[in-house]
Amino acid sequence: MKNLKIGLLGLGTVGSGVYRILTANADKISVNAGKKIEISRILVGDLNKKRSLDIPAELLTDNVRDILDDPGIDIVVELLGGIHPAFEYMLEALNKKKHVVTANKAVIANYGSELAEAAAANMVALKYEASVAGGIPIINALSSALSGNEFFEIAGIVNGTTNYILTQMTEFGLNYEDVLKEAQDKGFAEADPTSDVEGEDVAYKLAILINTAFGLRIPPMNIPREGITKISKDDIEYASQFGYKIKLLAMAKRNGNELECGVQPALIPVAHPLASVSNEFNALFVKGDAVDDLMFYGKGAGSLPTGSAVVGDIIDIARKSDFPECCAFQPAEPPSDLRFTGDGLGMYYINFLVADVPGVLGKVSTAFGDHGISIESVMQRSKSKRAGDDVPVIYILHELHRKQLDQALAEICTYDFIKEVRSILRVEPLT
Ligand SMILES: NC(=O)c1ccc[n+]([C@@H]2O[C@H](COP(=O)([O-])OP(=O)(O)OC[C@H]3O[C@@H](n4cnc5c(N)ncnc54)[C@H](OP(=O)(O)O)[C@@H]3O)[C@@H](O)[C@H]2O)c1
Repeated sequence: MKNLKIGLLGLGTVGSGVYRILTANADKISVNAGKKIEISRILVGDLNKKRSLDIPAELLTDNVRDILDDPGIDIVVELLGGIHPAFEYMLEALNKKKHVVTANKAVIANYGSELAEAAAANMVALKYEASVAGGIPIINALSSALSGNEFFEIAGIVNGTTNYILTQMTEFGLNYEDVLKEAQDKGFAEADPTSDVEGEDVAYKLAILINTAFGLRIPPMNIPREGITKISKDDIEYASQFGYKIKLLAMAKRNGNELECGVQPALIPVAHPLASVSNEFNALFVKGDAVDDLMFYGKGAGSLPTGSAVVGDIIDIARKSDFPECCAFQPAEPPSDLRFTGDGLGMYYINFLVADVPGVLGKVSTAFGDHGISIESVMQRSKSKRAGDDVPVIYILHELHRKQLDQALAEICTYDFIKEVRSILRVEPLT
């Protein structure tokens, strides 16, 4: 039995998890893989850094050439993070006929095609299960067990940091800023949380999911996205009174040659399984023509859950290393007749701040009606008993096009009693 040799790029959160799993479960893994899997070399940035793992010093290197130029290394496992030099290292490894496993969503979302082409040309594997939703095996499920389906819809909560923030705001009635600070103090959020809270991280994952489920290559920067920074504790409370929870949702729907996709905070019915996904947990809801509705749930990040997905990919390569299946990533451009709609049909939640004067509800409702928009529910909140104070008025609108809504709002905002449109959020019935 030939051993399979691994060059690990990175020994941070995920790299340490991979090392731990490969060491602790070595016997079981070699039985499952049909080969002994051996870590030959580990690339780190700082050789002198104190590490929580007891690792033989001779395994560590700060020179990537020790891995990429070693003909004995069969699999390069990239866990560095960032786009450069991670992309260049992976491309070189594939061109040197080494299999590549990565957890890097930024590289796969932006350069998956180039890497998939290199994998195919060199007849080696490129695997990236851990790049979406950490320990949840969604990529392998969509591309193998479920690959006989046409998928219509994929929706999910795939960022643990923002889900933690929204859960804490919901459960304890806290402000966004206070929860973010607490999450940073506890290490749940990065010192610079921009990529998470502005939805960029989710857009990368959605681009990979769209590729896997629908076979379409959509650059992540083309995916409309909105983060959670403008969500107030009032929005969360009003949504709850209408029977919804607010979640940062990655959503893609394909209907023939029309693709609608986006990343946005959305109101989800409290009875839907996605609404009960709390804190750092992730979940994905998938609708296929044969399998119908499926839900995946689990830890979307962390050393061991993410390491589990990486090790699964390594074992899969070991089993098939004589006849590698190159890569699930679809390098093709989307068909030219694909209509890409970022703001299709949907229900909406609108939070207005208005002067507390008679006739407000009638005038706003009439304006919506004039634009062909029907109202599902409306709620007026009186914050104060003093006449003349501004008060919130919340509408849930039946399905409409965003353009229709914008035209109605342009008219409504000319009324003197409208002080502010505080939030416009999608409502996703997800039925
Ligand atoms: N953390 C998670 O829960 C999670 C979940 C899913 C996916 N991912 C993805 O997994 C990847 C790794 O994330 P992570 O959280 O493990 O990152 P991390 O903790 O920051 O670790 C990065 C590791 O790479 C090394 N490194 C970085 N740049 C390097 C360079 N240019 N040359 C040599 N070594 C370099 C660092 O060396 P030093 O140790 O010497 O600093 C460190 O060991 C990322 O793509 C991330 O998006 C992470």
